[in-house]
Amino acid sequence: MTWFEARQQKGLPVLVAVDDEGNVAGFASYGPFRAKEGYRFTVEHTVYVDPLRHRQGVGRTLMTRLIQIAESNGVHVLVGGIDADNLASIRLHEALGFNVSGRLPQTGTKFGRWLDLVFVTKVLGPMQAPKG
Ligand SMILES: CC(C)(COP(=O)(O)OP(=O)(O)OC[C@H]1O[C@@H](n2cnc3c(N)ncnc32)[C@H](O)[C@@H]1OP(=O)(O)O)[C@@H](O)C(=O)NCCC(=O)NCCS
Repeated sequence: MTWFEARQQKGLPVLVAVDDEGNVAGFASYGPFRAKEGYRFTVEHTVYVDPLRHRQGVGRTLMTRLIQIAESNGVHVLVGGIDADNLASIRLHEALGFNVSGRLPQTGTKFGRWLDLVFVTKVLGPMQAPKG
């Protein structure tokens, strides 16, 4: 089963942007943030755009739609985990109203060096915390 199918089977959204020729330009999705019950109103998302399609509004369009879906599914907080060097992604998220909420030093590695992980979050409107 592909990643795409596994996500869909769990009822998780998978958005795919295609161009006029049917080529995939990017995708976005979200899934559980953490397994424990108390985190059930929080999701962690991912967004990816083909480098040939960067800076054409694809990422913004995918994320705007994903945020709408999250809102209609009762999600309270969206979390994104971004390599601290990835300014494009941090800027995209800031442009969409996310806040930089935390930085975990040297938790990743790529090309022979340690990378910090930056968490961005967006609270999706007022919502009473459930009892219990
Ligand atoms: C981050 C990413 C999704 C952006 O997608 P994109 O389609 O190029 O972004 P958009 O064209 O929709 O840009 C929307 C806004 O984001 C910001 N932005 C995007 N790329 C930027 C860059 N290189 N530098 C600065 N700001 C940038 C700008 O505010 C931009 O608005 P503007 O073009 O009107 O100035 C894309 O670079 C990507 O796939 N990167 C690799 C994967 C990744 O980092 N995923 C995120 C992990 S959750």
